[in-house]
Order: sequence, then C-alpha cells, then structure tokens
Amino acid sequence: MPNTEEQTRQVGLSPATAVKPTRLIIDCDPGIDDAVSIALAVGSPELEILGITTVAGNVGIQETTTNALGLLAAFGRDEIPVAAGAHRGLVRTKADHRFVHGENGIGGVDLAPARRTVNSEHAVDFLSNILSRHGPRSVTIAAIGPLTNIAMLLALRPELIDNIEELVIMGATAGGGNITPVAEYNTWADPEAAQRVFTTVGLKIRLLELQITRRATVDQGVVATMRAESPRGDLLADMIDGYEDRTPDGQPLHDALAIAAIVDPTLIETRPASVEVNTHSDSQRAETVFDFGPAAANSNLQVAVEFDLKRFRELLIARVAGPVQGE
Ligand code: BDR
Ligand code: CA
Repeated sequence: MPNTEEQTRQVGLSPATAVKPTRLIIDCDPGIDDAVSIALAVGSPELEILGITTVAGNVGIQETTTNALGLLAAFGRDEIPVAAGAHRGLVRTKADHRFVHGENGIGGVDLAPARRTVNSEHAVDFLSNILSRHGPRSVTIAAIGPLTNIAMLLALRPELIDNIEELVIMGATAGGGNITPVAEYNTWADPEAAQRVFTTVGLKIRLLELQITRRATVDQGVVATMRAESPRGDLLADMIDGYEDRTPDGQPLHDALAIAAIVDPTLIETRPASVEVNTHSDSQRAETVFDFGPAAANSNLQVAVEFDLKRFRELLIARVAGPVQGE
C-alpha cells in the first residue's frame, strides 16, 4: 500500500502492526467526532473497512446515513457500503445531540450529495451477513454511537458472537456525564441496549469511557495543522469549528480515540472491569457503575484507564494528512 512505511515511521507504529489489516465495520451516528473517526479509518493502512452501519444518535437516522454517505464520497471511498439501522432506542424514544453537533450533525458543513445510495439491507442484516461470511474472530466492530444495532445483532444472531474479533465501544462514564450529571450520551440514548451489550458473555470488548475520551482533545494548533495538511483535514476543521463540545484543553474527539485504539492498541492502557447500566431510574438514567475489583479479573470487558494524548494527536494528523487507503 502507498506510503505505509512512511506513515508507520511517522507515528511510531511497529511495521508488524501495519502489514496485517484489521477487518473493521464502523457502527456510528455522524456526528463530528464520528466524521473524524471515519477520516482516521480511511487514512489508516492497518484497517480494511468492510462497511459502515448507521444508527440514530447525534441526529436522526436519515441524517446520520446521509452524512456517512457524504463523508465517504468526500474522502474518495464511496465504494465502502453504508447500511442504515435503528431509528430510535430499543425502549426509549428518539434522542438527539444537536446542541453539540449542529442541526445537520456535522457542524453545519454542507457536503456534496453522494452518488452512491444506502445499502438495501438493514444494518443488523448487513452486520450478520458480513460476520457469517468471515470465520471465527475475524471482524472487529467499532461502535461509536448508541448501541441499538449491536444489541439487536447480539439478540438475533447470538451464534455470530464468536465471529467478532473485538467490539471497541465509545460509551459510558466512570465519572460525571455529558448529557445529564451522571450519564454519557451514547449510553443515555439507549441504556437498555448498552446493558445488553456490556453483559454479553463471551464477547471481547474494549470500552473507551467518557473520563478518558474527554481528554482526547484537539487544540487550535492541531486543528490548524489538520486544516493545512489536506482537503480532508480542511473539511474536518470546518466541522470542528462548529463543534460545541469544549474543554480547557481543546475539543474532545471521543469516537476517534476508539478508532485510534484499533489502529494502535498500544495507545491505551486497559484494566478488566464489569459495567452495569442503570435502566430503572429516570433521574439516574444510564448511570454506569464500574467494578474494577477482583471479581472482574477475568472479565471479557477491558476499560481504558490511560492513553497517550501526544501520540493520539500525532496519529490523527498523520492519517488525515496522508493518502486515503484503497483509493
Ligand atoms: C459520544 O456522544 C456523541 O455526541 C459523540 O459522537 C460520541 O459518540 C460522546 O459522549
Ligand atoms: Ca458518535
């Protein structure tokens, strides 16, 4: 693949990491940090993107799907199939996060309409078919929106759990929330789905929760560098300008940390834990209770407890600046 060695050198990955692409499906709700995640993925030779599935989350299902198609077209990868999924949570009615991501979900940026249309299969069928086609532990899923599609997949096709190499999730919080004082947005949008997914036996999960992802920031210098490096970076910088999620250290690109952790697992440090989601109380809706104690030592769920911000930012810049893979 073009420039693989150069990109590997720039971000300090081992060559071995770069030569064996991870088959990946991104389940998402674009979303500004979802858009950056897709850009990071298409710029990463470590990944073979088998498809994108969409879910209602930051905006409605039609908008998240239109955004996914438009982003792939803008990045020159519109051969990647997009399948639309759930239009609301399993139990809860529609939620949205427009006050953070803008009315259209991508900071008011107008993307050229995509020529390619959405796949005829529902996202859950699309996921099932891809998992069936590949062997055991063959496909990684990055779930960076509400977990509705994933919970439906696990409920409908439990025999396919073995074919999931790993599920990497952005969601939950081990501290305060970003939609209520106790809840993280993706988990709050569909707490019943999250509880189902987090408690699935035999499913290997890495979880990037809010206290870690809110530190995965880009400051003005990083955004300016992205803008200067490529048309793709310029487009993302326009979106980030309209992103209302801000911390004193910059704007947190929560979802992009999940993709970065797949590209380079050494970026994050994890500990085994179990997680319970509050699905009973309205005031504490979607509060997540983590247990890192001895009872969780053999848990199939690993929670990120630390990451390297400098290397995360370097990876982001390198992959947004470099060539799109598979163009
Ligand atoms: C999560 O919620 C959404 O706003 C972001 O896209 C991210 O997936 C952060 O809590
Ligand atoms: Ca998201």
